[in-house]
Formats: sequence, structure tokens, C-alpha cells
Amino acid sequence: MREAFNCLVSKSSVRIVEVGPRDGLQNEKSTVSTEVKIELINRLSAVGFANIEATSFVSPKWVPQLADAAEVMERITRRPGVTYSVLAPNLQGAEKALAARADEVVIFTAASETFCLKNINCTVEQSFERYAPVADALKANGVRLRGSISCSFGCPYEGDVPISSVIKVAKRLQALGCDAIDLADTIGVGTVKRVKELVRAASDEIPIERLAGHYHDTFGQALANILASLEAGLGVFHSSVAGLGGCPYAPGATGNVATEDVLYLLRGLGLETGISLDEVASIGDFICTAIGRPNASKTGAALLAKRTLRQPPDDSA
Ligand code: HMG
Ligand code: MG
Repeated sequence: MREAFNCLVSKSSVRIVEVGPRDGLQNEKSTVSTEVKIELINRLSAVGFANIEATSFVSPKWVPQLADAAEVMERITRRPGVTYSVLAPNLQGAEKALAARADEVVIFTAASETFCLKNINCTVEQSFERYAPVADALKANGVRLRGSISCSFGCPYEGDVPISSVIKVAKRLQALGCDAIDLADTIGVGTVKRVKELVRAASDEIPIERLAGHYHDTFGQALANILASLEAGLGVFHSSVAGLGGCPYAPGATGNVATEDVLYLLRGLGLETGISLDEVASIGDFICTAIGRPNASKTGAALLAKRTLRQPPDDSA
């Protein structure tokens, strides 16, 4: 029988970037203590995530949830070999990131003008003017630079975003010296056909090993989109433990695809990452309990429920 799934990615090239501590916690309405953030990051590094997006050096007026970025970076236990990434929206942020010894700095712009204005208070063009000195500073210090393209699949204000707009931004990020570029589905509207088209178009311009899929799960398409991306040859995905992110009180707003769900998908495809799904489910339980929110990972919730199943009585006694 013919294989229905034609994966172009080898086991060794599949990688997960855990973004829960940053993308997930930046949206939490409740205050998350610095201790909890540090413990979350330490637990994630202990189970083998090689790349963790730890926090953001953005304006605390815009994102008060991550105002403790410097303290978090100062107090986490650095595991050798782990890349701790942080976001920076300007040179001020990049300088703080350098002082905090971040291994990778993520600059972020958008394929939609309106979103860019709402998110970082400047046009896409102005974002590149801001990021030029950021790139210079990072390169001078030998720190990796990653560029994230919000609204690669659609914008909450402008609706559909043409593939050509995403490619234009991706090429500019590459020219700026980005080591990696994220195709971000900010509002989770992407679907399989479109994902394949964008991944193929982007990989015509940028080596596919430098691209990553950053899919929010708002419309429940993220896992399907990861499968479609694998078929198109993409192997790096961002995910959030317990599907952190979004606001439980804002209808429709959801976080990144849950890490547990992605690990289960990959395991089923024989694409083992070396990260223990069971241990990640425990981390999901830890963070959901600590911040008092439901676990948004179906796999995580199923594994945790199994643990609480009562064993049948032992009649041999
Ligand atoms: P602005 O108000 O135009 O900035 O904001 P400004 O330069 O006029 O500065 C205003 C104040 O902020 C000043 O303080 C600055 O010092 C301070 P004041 O003089 O009023 O006391 N400030 C800073 N403080 C700390 N760190 C900094 C910094 N920069 C300025 N780096 C700005 C412009 C870009 C700063 C602001 O819009 C901002 O911080 N935006 C960040 C928004 C954000 O973090 N969004 C979420 C992350 S992106 C994301 O989630 C998408 C992604 O996941 C992919 C996807 O899913 O799409 C990556
Ligand atoms: Mg995001």
C-alpha cells in the first residue's frame, strides 16, 4: 500500500523550539511570579529542550507580564548546549539581551502593516531601520539572530495576507543576517494547502533548514499544518507546553500549538526528538497548576488523566 504521508524531513532534522515561557506567559492575565517562570524554564531544559524562548526585552508598559526579563535570565540555571532565546523589538532591548547573555535574539516584524503598527508601533519599513543596528550589535557579539514574521497566514486587521508580502519580509530578514526565520501564524488561521504553498515559496528563497513554523492553534489547524510543513520539508516548529498562551477569558484567543501534542504527532510518525513526552506532560501540569489555568494540550490532559486512573483491585491477595 502507498504511504499516505510523504515526509521529506529526516528524524535528525526535526527540532522543537519551546516558546511557552515567552509566547505563552506574555498573554497570561494573572501575574506569574518570577520563581514560577524560572522553574518552568529549568524544568524544560532538564528534559532536553535544546532551544527555549525564555522571555522578552520589550517595553514593560506594553508587556508588563515580562517586566522581570533580566531577573529571569540572571537566575535560570544555564544548561550547556541549550540556546536561551529572547525577543527584542529595538536596540534598547537588544542591549539588555546582550547584558543578560542571551544566546539568540529574536527580532519581530510582520507581513501586515496594521499588525506591525499595533504590535511594535512602527511600519514594517521602520522596523527594518530599527533592526539594522540590532543586527550589527548581535553580530559583533557573536549572538544568533532570528527573525519572526507575524501574520504570515492572515492578519486580525487586514485579513488575508499575500504570500508575496511574507516572502518580501523573509528576504529582508535574510539580508539583515538572520540565522533563522519564523513563519508565524499569529492568529492560527492557516490551513494545510496554504501552509504548503508558503513553505515551498519561502524555501525557494531561503534554505529550508533556516525556516521554522510558529503556529498558533486558534482554529485547531496547527497539528495539520505541522504535518503539511513536514511534507513540504520543514523540520523546525515552535510550540508551547500545555498550549500556554491566549486568554481563557477572551473567546477565540488561544496559544501556540501544545508541545505535548506535537511530540505525540512526531512520535507517531517515527520522528522521535529524544524529549520524553511523559516528562513534558508533568511540566504542563506544573505550570497549569501554578498559574491556575486549564491544560490546553489534549495529549497532556489525556496522559495526566491516565495517571489518576484507579488500578483495579488486586484479587491475588
Ligand atoms: P514605543 O512606545 O513606540 O517606544 O513602543 P518608545 O521608543 O517611544 O519608548 C517608550 C517607552 O518604552 C520608553 O520609556 C522607553 O524607554 C521604553 P519611558 O521613557 O516612557 O519611561 N522602552 C523599553 N523599555 C524596555 N525595553 C525595551 C524598550 N523599548 C522602549 N526594549 C516598542 C515601541 C517596540 C518598545 C513597544 O511597542 C514594545 O515593546 N512592543 C512589544 C510588543 C510585544 O512584545 N508583542 C508581543 C511579542 S511579538 C509576538 O508575540 C509574535 C510572535 O510570537 C510571532 C507570532 O505569533 O506572530 C513572535
Ligand atoms: Mg506567537
